[in-house]
Amino acid sequence: SSKRYLLAIETSCDETAASVIADDFSICSNVVASQAKLHERFGGVVPEIASRAHLSRILPVIATGLDEAEIKREQLAAIAATDGPGLVGSLLVGLTAAKTLAAAWELPLVTVDHIEAHLFACRLGAGRDVFPAVGLVVSGGHTNLYRCLSAFEFELLGSTIDDAAGEAFDKAARILGLPYPGGPSISAAAANGDSAAIDFPRPMANSDRLEFSFSGLKTAILYAAKGHPNGTPAPPLTEQRVCDLAASFQQAVVDVLVSKSAQAIRQTGKRRLLLGGGVAANRSLREQLGQQAERDGFELIVAPLEFCTDNAAMAALAWEQLGRGAVASLDCDVRSGLVR
Ligand code: KG4
Ligand code: ZN
Repeated sequence: SSKRYLLAIETSCDETAASVIADDFSICSNVVASQAKLHERFGGVVPEIASRAHLSRILPVIATGLDEAEIKREQLAAIAATDGPGLVGSLLVGLTAAKTLAAAWELPLVTVDHIEAHLFACRLGAGRDVFPAVGLVVSGGHTNLYRCLSAFEFELLGSTIDDAAGEAFDKAARILGLPYPGGPSISAAAANGDSAAIDFPRPMANSDRLEFSFSGLKTAILYAAKGHPNGTPAPPLTEQRVCDLAASFQQAVVDVLVSKSAQAIRQTGKRRLLLGGGVAANRSLREQLGQQAERDGFELIVAPLEFCTDNAAMAALAWEQLGRGAVASLDCDVRSGLVR
């Protein structure tokens, strides 16, 4: 066919991922090698373990991504890779592999912002242009609200002043003795719990600012599970109590995310909300944001489930960059933080 394809590589955190994406945004392959098993016993991602695991997986993952796409190498128009934000050692593995392939195959290199890619994942499900919009990215490392003018103009409206939403899920799971990653295990336990059982705080709910704070919620669940330092004991941590704590905690996080998103829609006058990132896989969040969208009359576009947690398909965003000639230099560097 006359379609053109790009190979995208993503290694910003603890998933080694490669995807082949056609110029009509159809996904020809989407390979993700998760390192969750390696980090499980630490309750979070250990950077040095992550970069070493990327090193041993990156070539097989790329090879599988190319194989499963069933295209010829000559049909590739570019190589894309995440250059940040993320763990420096992890990012370097993917970006270096991408540079090497770009040099060897004489193809342009395109670098992709991981957070913007999480929002662009919404485009893959919608099958049409999704900009302009307000964007909410909720992941293990970030909780950011954006004014999205186009696929390459994102203005940060506000973010978390301490922990990210996914990080809060991971820490809460650890406190409750539930497995890593915490988001899916809290969500599973919550299904058997009462979300009104424990009255957790809704941090920042009454502030006009588009900021989040989740560290107080983490302390609240710690005290509710293990007892208060002032000596007030907690009820025994029975199976039912764990489910009630999980459900009440999840509801507190969802309430804050829903109310801040609605606030961002009102403040910007935009009529569309994009939701992406690992926490966007949470069913309660998807449902309750959907109900809020109906009440307030805005459109909600959520990233397809398979493109919520880290993957390389969402780097389809690289096509937009290629379209405007944004090709990266082979001596470009990775970025650990949000700033370009
Ligand atoms: O986007 P992602 O895969 O990696 C980062 O860029 O950080 O997000 C990972 C985060 C983890 O904190 C994980 O606990 C959370 O997303 N997560 C969830 C769910 N699935 C994954 N949080 C809540 N509910 C879920 N179903
Ligand atoms: Zn991510």
